[in-house]
Amino acid sequence: SIDVSTLTKKTGLTTLDYGFVNTAATKSAITYIDGDQGILRYRGYPIEQIAANSSYLETAWLLIYGELPSASELEEFDNRIRRHTLLHEDLKRFFDALPHNAHPMSVLAAGVSALSTYYQDSLSPKDPEQVEITTVRLLAKLPVMAAYAHKKSLGQAFLYPDNSLSFVDNFLRLNFGTLAEPYEVNPVVSKALERLLMLHEDHEQNASTSTVRLVGSTEANLFASVSAGINALFGPLHGGANEAVLEMLAKIRDSGEGVARYVERVKNKEDGVRLMGFGHRVYKNFDPRARLVKQSADEVLEALGVQDPLLDIAKELEAVALADDYFIERKLYPNVDFYTGVIYKAMGFPTRMFTVLFAIGRLPGWIAHWREMNNDPQTKIGRPQQLYVGSPARDFPAR
Ligand code: ACO
Repeated sequence: SIDVSTLTKKTGLTTLDYGFVNTAATKSAITYIDGDQGILRYRGYPIEQIAANSSYLETAWLLIYGELPSASELEEFDNRIRRHTLLHEDLKRFFDALPHNAHPMSVLAAGVSALSTYYQDSLSPKDPEQVEITTVRLLAKLPVMAAYAHKKSLGQAFLYPDNSLSFVDNFLRLNFGTLAEPYEVNPVVSKALERLLMLHEDHEQNASTSTVRLVGSTEANLFASVSAGINALFGPLHGGANEAVLEMLAKIRDSGEGVARYVERVKNKEDGVRLMGFGHRVYKNFDPRARLVKQSADEVLEALGVQDPLLDIAKELEAVALADDYFIERKLYPNVDFYTGVIYKAMGFPTRMFTVLFAIGRLPGWIAHWREMNNDPQTKIGRPQQLYVGSPARDFPAR
């Protein structure tokens, strides 16, 4: 419910809108969502068509520059990104300094923030060439840092990127390759991961993108803004949900309590327990990405010959919830995160890497929004209002 306060200012009425449920902070031409009809489009193109036909980098170009690239533009973009995958050698020592059991999302946020210390002369949000090179550096280096965070958690040696490989294949090799043996990319895994990354590339003003825009509105550099976005994504109500879903499924399996009993506990709000991977602020009918992900889950697990009881629990949970009045009345449906974890697990990623994969997916959207904001002459520093409910004026005790 909206609390329209009586507080008027020179600029008009102030509304109290917890969670910005009804407040638009900007105009944007990047992504269209119709939550009632389950529609998601990037620059006008339906997500289903993007997922079926595009690639991660082509979609990134579309989001950032507004149109699909020509074949030569895409090739040049891809080559430029490949040339920038290396990290400064000193940055490897930065990873070494962090505890081996650090959460890779924390490592990633810190690493992206640290990148600005290496490129101090090219951080201006107002210089188009500097924005271009920072865009390329981020797209090239984020997956490498993510893989380093993974390797560090395993105590394994970091590999250097192999720039003869495509964006996704390079990333898979950095995660699963070792110094001891050559690594062969499984095309099923590569294709599925590319698809999942594409599905995550943008989602208009979600919490992490809004964070990137808010930080960027201060004219903070792109590395700083994206690092803040990664931290926002880390929360279990946002990107961290994919990790939380798998933990929930494992808990249901290990407790032996059964799906129906778990759903009862959710409905009774016992200990505030929620059905992770269910519900969405915007989608109140279905999440179009969830449908595509569910399809991928079946395909990938079958192609890899993986039989995962957690997938069965997920399907049972979905069936029970979708037939239950509690979820129907509140319009709660599986969101994009409900099945991604099961797929990432089948690919061999540890649970703590799931949200990192989301961050790599979402990076083009963050960049596109940061650039759109910087190019918009109407942009102002983000500065919400508050309604003060504290003590009236009082005298400090005399001493
Ligand atoms: N399980 C059980 N009940 C839920 C759930 C859920 N997952 N989500 C919402 N509800 C209930 C709430 O308890 C509330 O019920 P009430 O009216 O009886 O109090 C009602 O549905 C409305 O919930 P809100 O919290 O007001 O909905 P909001 O739009 O603010 O929250 C959110 C959306 C955060 C996604 C929520 O549905 C949630 O916590 N889901 C689980 C976490 C999750 O999967 N997050 C990923 C989101 S997608 C993404 O980031 C890519």
